[in-house]
Amino acid sequence: MGLISVAQKINSDFWRGKRILLTGHTGFKGSWLSLWLQSMGATLRGIALDPPTNPALFDVARVAEGMEHRIVDIRDFTLVKMQMDEFQPEIVIHMAAQPLVRYSYQEPIETFATNVMGTVHVLEAARLISSVKAVINVTTDKCYENHEWVWGYRENEPMGGHDPYSSSKGCSELVTSAYRRSFFEQAGIALASVRAGNVIGGGDWSEDRLIPDVLRAFTVKMPVLIRSPSAIRPWQHVLEPLSGYLMLAQALYQEGEKYSSGWNFGPNDMDTRPVRWIVEHMTNKWDDHATWIQDKDDQPHEANYLKLDISKAKNHLGWKPIWNLELALEKIVDWHKAWLSGADMRSFCEQQIAAYQSDTKISQA
Ligand SMILES: NC(=O)c1ccc[n+]([C@@H]2O[C@H](COP(=O)([O-])OP(=O)(O)OC[C@H]3O[C@@H](n4cnc5c(N)ncnc54)[C@H](O)[C@@H]3O)[C@@H](O)[C@H]2O)c1
Repeated sequence: MGLISVAQKINSDFWRGKRILLTGHTGFKGSWLSLWLQSMGATLRGIALDPPTNPALFDVARVAEGMEHRIVDIRDFTLVKMQMDEFQPEIVIHMAAQPLVRYSYQEPIETFATNVMGTVHVLEAARLISSVKAVINVTTDKCYENHEWVWGYRENEPMGGHDPYSSSKGCSELVTSAYRRSFFEQAGIALASVRAGNVIGGGDWSEDRLIPDVLRAFTVKMPVLIRSPSAIRPWQHVLEPLSGYLMLAQALYQEGEKYSSGWNFGPNDMDTRPVRWIVEHMTNKWDDHATWIQDKDDQPHEANYLKLDISKAKNHLGWKPIWNLELALEKIVDWHKAWLSGADMRSFCEQQIAAYQSDTKISQA
């Protein structure tokens, strides 16, 4: 792998007019990424199911206004292939997934069908379209076989997963590796997978996720029920891994194969924090008598200690975390309060993206 060359920052000129197919654009991360790509002038088509929550960032921030929005189930290969044929993308970013650990225990078939065969369908369709130059598959930090150890996982460590969600993402990684070696390398299409930590930000209303649970409880002035206060996770604002995906996509497109591998995009070590730390910070930032209590009911197994080693992205891509956890929590509280007060959330998101981008430039100066 060579040293950093093209991918030192997000380059709006690169994205202007580029044809991007994004799966999962109606979800939390997909909505933020769609707004970001729109702000840089990309020609964007999204394929996904209806927004997974109500309310949803996709509706609240009027994400569909700046893109081609298609409802497509990625479990149906014919439909995915039709979209790819019709749109002729240059870059494909695959984010659509069943992303919840606890739900995956209730619906393992749906989880594996979406996360494993859905990935096969997207990669298969991409390899058959000559316009495609670069593909990113979004998996997760949970794709690694978790040893509950104190060190961060590196990109070359084995895939695994105890629960169906984590396992399905480990499988999605194996699918990516097989497609890269069997087809994409020969076809000259750059293919990478990206593994982010626990992503937080304004506009997430998912079930069973810490920040949405906390905000729901605060809004109705109830104590928050916390399942595992001492569980340690790599927390990061949603714009952090998205900036990594954008930089990586630029590098894949411009320099191809040497970036075609797995990439961790996690926070700095100090932001791998216990759940309790987050909840206490949120309670202080919210005021208004916010409190929390521990949920003592039996819970299905979830990873307790999970950290990512981000040396590769720092050294070979020039990417680094910009907003620390403290600032990320402030941005979330600001976002949620703006939403509660009836602000225009599309422009609020655009302002947060612009602020992030200018902080990136300052930190690179
Ligand atoms: N949120 C996190 O903390 C986090 C952390 C690491 C990785 N990820 C990964 O990032 C990606 C996006 O996560 P998110 O938090 O935005 O999830 P989300 O639930 O908000 O969005 C999921 C998206 O996938 C789409 N989708 C689900 N099933 C589909 C199907 N059968 N066909 C087409 N589209 C389908 C939904 O419509 C939605 O657009 C996922 O791949 C997830 O595993 C998320």
